Amino acid sequence: MNNIKLIATTTFGLESTVKRELLNLGYDNLKVSDGAIEIEGSYNDIPRLNINLRSSDRILLVMGRFKALSFDDLFEGTKSLPWGDIIPEDGHFIITGKSVKSTLYSVPDCQSIVEKAIVDKLKQKYKVSWFQKTGAVYKVQVSILKDIVTLTLDTTGHALNKRGYRDNAVAAPLKETIAHALIDLCYYRPERTLLDPCCGSGTIAIEAALKAKNIAPGISRKFVSEDWDIIDASVWKGARSKAFSSIKVDFMPSIYASDIDKNAIEIARHNAVNAGVDDCIVFENKPLNQVKLPCRYGICICNPPYAERMGEIDEVEQLYRDMGKLFRDDNTWSVYVITSHEGFEKLYGKRADKKRKLFNGSVKVDYYQYFGLRPPKQ
Ligand SMILES: C[S@@+](CC[C@H](N)C(=O)[O-])C[C@H]1O[C@@H](n2cnc3c(N)ncnc32)[C@H](O)[C@@H]1O
Repeated sequence: MNNIKLIATTTFGLESTVKRELLNLGYDNLKVSDGAIEIEGSYNDIPRLNINLRSSDRILLVMGRFKALSFDDLFEGTKSLPWGDIIPEDGHFIITGKSVKSTLYSVPDCQSIVEKAIVDKLKQKYKVSWFQKTGAVYKVQVSILKDIVTLTLDTTGHALNKRGYRDNAVAAPLKETIAHALIDLCYYRPERTLLDPCCGSGTIAIEAALKAKNIAPGISRKFVSEDWDIIDASVWKGARSKAFSSIKVDFMPSIYASDIDKNAIEIARHNAVNAGVDDCIVFENKPLNQVKLPCRYGICICNPPYAERMGEIDEVEQLYRDMGKLFRDDNTWSVYVITSHEGFEKLYGKRADKKRKLFNGSVKVDYYQYFGLRPPKQ
């Protein structure tokens, strides 16, 4: 079916990254709002978006949107939508909900009204009085914002940051989707050398390697809508084959990742093997104050401890000073650091060229950006 609407959801602050990814995949007519980018497309776009997007959290299929000031409005609006075109007789539908600044504020009540309306609609189609719900999962989300109801179906399942390669992590790992956004926000070019001197589970290095080799993040994992009848298995197969054939097999990016913690390096290496990019990353177990810059004109992206979440304040502050020292004598390096520590610039010893506010989970952070000299034209 054509002319459906899909929503790529994202962490607040990463909308521009996801929009850029969508434009690169050839989508236009995008509507951007807080934490969401709406896309016009067809069912065949569901596999493509799930497999390829790097910074989006999930892909929702919009079933309908209408105003509701009463439970009757909600019931009738929900029942008018074509649920039976998508949910089969054995479909396992689940309702979740949220309501913000709306007349209908009781989320459990809204969920049960929506469920009743969907059951009524499906009964009309399947002529049964009871649904076994033994089949594929259809997670309906009722989202009410300022009295406007949006009903969606989640096509993703486990969120898109679950690429499948990170089966072990250090404390306070970055979400893979955020790690990718940090890379995107510094306009990383795969020809440049990348360094993460506090690599933990290796997320930034691995995401950079996946991007450099054009390996789609969802190439090897499963999505909940793969079990849906509305998308033929051949469409999923086609989207995966296209992703496989787009991999730059012979390209070898230059990526360095180190950490003071030996266990972290073992975990990071293991994750890189899982992701199939261990041959692109040089892992080393060493403290930041022993790191030597491997070349000129590199890019450092780093998610050091913030002291709020791990590490002691004195050690963390010394680490930030050491970071400043590492780059003090080489103005060809571009340095990008994400932290919630408000004294970062002072400890690093330099004002950032640019700062960007982001969220790392529920923690408000700044992404400090120091631009190095541009490499000479080859
Ligand atoms: C917030 S974690 C990084 C998480 C990582 N981005 C991930 O996704 O797993 C910070 C890391 O910095 C490392 N670290 C702390 N002090 C360090 C130092 N002086 N030199 C190098 N690494 C250090 C810790 O061992 C930890 O793995």
